[in-house]
Amino acid sequence: MPTEVQGVIARSKGEPVEVTTIVVPDPGPGEALVDVKACGVCHTDLHYREGGINDDFPFLLGHEASGIVAAVGDGVTDLEPGDFVILNWRAVCGACRACSRGEPWYCFATHNATQKMTLADGTPLSPALGIGAFASKTLVAAGQCTKVNPAVKPEVAGLLGCGVMAGLGAALNTAGVRRGETVAVIGCGGVGDAAILGASVAGARTVVAIDVDDRKLEWAKGFGATHTVNSSTADLIEGVQAATDGFGADVVIDAVARPETYGAAFYARDLAGRVVLVGVPTPDMKIELPLIDVFGRGGSLKSSWYGDCLPSRDFPMLVDMHLAGRLPLEKFVSETIGIGDVEAAFEKMHHGDVLRSVVVFT
Ligand SMILES: NC(=O)c1ccc[n+]([C@@H]2O[C@H](COP(=O)([O-])OP(=O)(O)OC[C@H]3O[C@@H](n4cnc5c(N)ncnc54)[C@H](O)[C@@H]3O)[C@@H](O)[C@H]2O)c1
Ligand SMILES: [Zn+2]
Ligand SMILES: [Zn+2]
Repeated sequence: MPTEVQGVIARSKGEPVEVTTIVVPDPGPGEALVDVKACGVCHTDLHYREGGINDDFPFLLGHEASGIVAAVGDGVTDLEPGDFVILNWRAVCGACRACSRGEPWYCFATHNATQKMTLADGTPLSPALGIGAFASKTLVAAGQCTKVNPAVKPEVAGLLGCGVMAGLGAALNTAGVRRGETVAVIGCGGVGDAAILGASVAGARTVVAIDVDDRKLEWAKGFGATHTVNSSTADLIEGVQAATDGFGADVVIDAVARPETYGAAFYARDLAGRVVLVGVPTPDMKIELPLIDVFGRGGSLKSSWYGDCLPSRDFPMLVDMHLAGRLPLEKFVSETIGIGDVEAAFEKMHHGDVLRSVVVFT
């Protein structure tokens, strides 16, 4: 029997989100029904609400989640009810060009549940990033469930499902930060601070945090920033150069994704350095760079999809590092909130009051 639960939806562009009844089908072949325990509020949810991702309204928001498997459909052999899982939004197919050449973190054919969750009147919902976890139950593809040690707090684990993994992975996987390198991170929200933590765990010598908000810069120090630059009052490129013997950083990670931050990232990097774009731009944004500088400065310009993570490899490892006291992921949780507080959480995110508000279900 399909289940009716309350979920947070964005009905139309730019309108406040609302809590309403949604219908969640029983899991079909290859699917899993999950009792959501916690789901973080990510900037990408706000992008959806603002129509910045696509126009497939209504959206069922929420995608940074952990929960307990409630039921599985036919053919699901590696999950069972009761398993504690982090939901991932890139369930790899195992067969596409990327998977076949041994790079499954780039999988070009990731998949979601086949059946649609709907509004009470039958209108199909578009779940954010194929998850939709601002609801006490959600339906996903079984491959979107990654089992981890259940000793971790659900509100901490859920964050690995998106922003924190994206940031950690931008530093660890995409940039491949090595011991002794210099790193600069633009934008110190949940994603940027996770990139700072990743750089720090990798052994970076210098980690420059850049933001337009002094409070964010203060928090960034708690994740390993050795230097800070407020780019609303100081020049970003000069600030990074000053912290790196005048050279620029080996790695610059843009966790904002605006033409001006990307342009600054490009020039704040040392010769042969790497730029990693982990923030998500909107479709209208354009960037112009002198081609001679693209050549002359060398190095590489990379994008980081979900921190180029492989959930089955990275989630259990990062949870274990956290449980061993070596990855302070709990610091990302600014507050736990109820399902009715998502719009207020967007407001707090907008004003820079939080790193992550996390909806918890009891
Ligand atoms: N690549 C991925 O897989 C992935 C995953 C999750 C989120 N994201 C994206 O990462 C970005 C950051 O997400 P978040 O949840 O950390 O957002 P957030 O709103 O919590 O943080 C953004 C930070 O950037 C700062 N900022 C804004 N404009 C700035 C500017 N011009 N210069 C310097 N700092 C500036 C803000 O003060 C804030 O601290 C978003 O674009 C989000 O969509 C990407
Ligand atoms: Zn694939
Ligand atoms: Zn997200």
